[in-house]
Amino acid sequence: MSYTPLRINTIKPEIQIPFELYIHFKDQYLCYQAQGLVINKDKFKKLKKQKVAKFYIKSQDERLYQKFLDQLIQETLNSAETPVEDKVVLMEEASSTAIEQIQKDPGSESSYKMTQTATGGLRKLITDNPTALKIMFEKKALPHEVLVKHSLNVCLLATKLAEKLRLSDDEIQAVMTAALMHDIGIPRSSEEAQNLFQKTKQKFTPDDRRHHKEHIESTLQIIKDKPYIKPLVIQLIQHHEEVLSGNGPYKQTKLNAAEECLSLVNSYDKKILIGELSPKDALKELMVDELGNYELKTLTKFKEVLQKEGLIL
Ligand SMILES: [Fe+2]
Ligand SMILES: [Fe+2]
Repeated sequence: MSYTPLRINTIKPEIQIPFELYIHFKDQYLCYQAQGLVINKDKFKKLKKQKVAKFYIKSQDERLYQKFLDQLIQETLNSAETPVEDKVVLMEEASSTAIEQIQKDPGSESSYKMTQTATGGLRKLITDNPTALKIMFEKKALPHEVLVKHSLNVCLLATKLAEKLRLSDDEIQAVMTAALMHDIGIPRSSEEAQNLFQKTKQKFTPDDRRHHKEHIESTLQIIKDKPYIKPLVIQLIQHHEEVLSGNGPYKQTKLNAAEECLSLVNSYDKKILIGELSPKDALKELMVDELGNYELKTLTKFKEVLQKEGLIL
């Protein structure tokens, strides 16, 4: 039997859960609750206190989970009584679940559908709630969750930059999906390539540059023939480290607006999460050191996005 992990905050107490829930304990999957039951609030609180972060479902139940989650997201985001902080938690957990699922199984259509559920909810969340992006972006990540946090941060800021650049809705959707998926190849790469995630590209040696392509190639190999993934999403993942100076892994010197948007935000967020710079200093470094990597007008628009979202003054 194969099991799929999901974050427990994507399950809500007091409503009927239409699939079996499992917990992973001492290398075993233990049935926590039978199909069709409700978790009461106290039981749910106890789980959180015990730091149970994930439930598991039988992989064959993924479709039921997706339907359940779609409905929960819609109801939560449309509810006037739900505080923005709770909406942020749900979307953060739903998006992180999507990233973890597609990282584990990049060739699965059901995992890809999860990314579409996540991007739809995220766009609505940050469009309807002006403070949501800042709340989500400024949350600290646990050390083992930095890669997931990075993907989510890139998705949030790339959405706003893409809107600012007046990309079409289809292009924005592609940028968001590619942002969630862009680094999912890292865990499947060689140790040398994996270690590069902990370095900002300014510190790369020539050897590092050779290994850098691996985390992209390992994803492309799996997703390139999937008919349900739009060609632009695949192209964006392939070119997410490309820069106008030609120093990217594929040495491109021309980028379309969507490619430049994703690459710029990817570079910016690494300066914060890995380089530990403040949002303000990261922007300064981007505008000084990477002036040849991105168009000045794109950098200026990005600065305006950061100001509008309240990340810099
Ligand atoms: Fe990358
Ligand atoms: Fe990245």
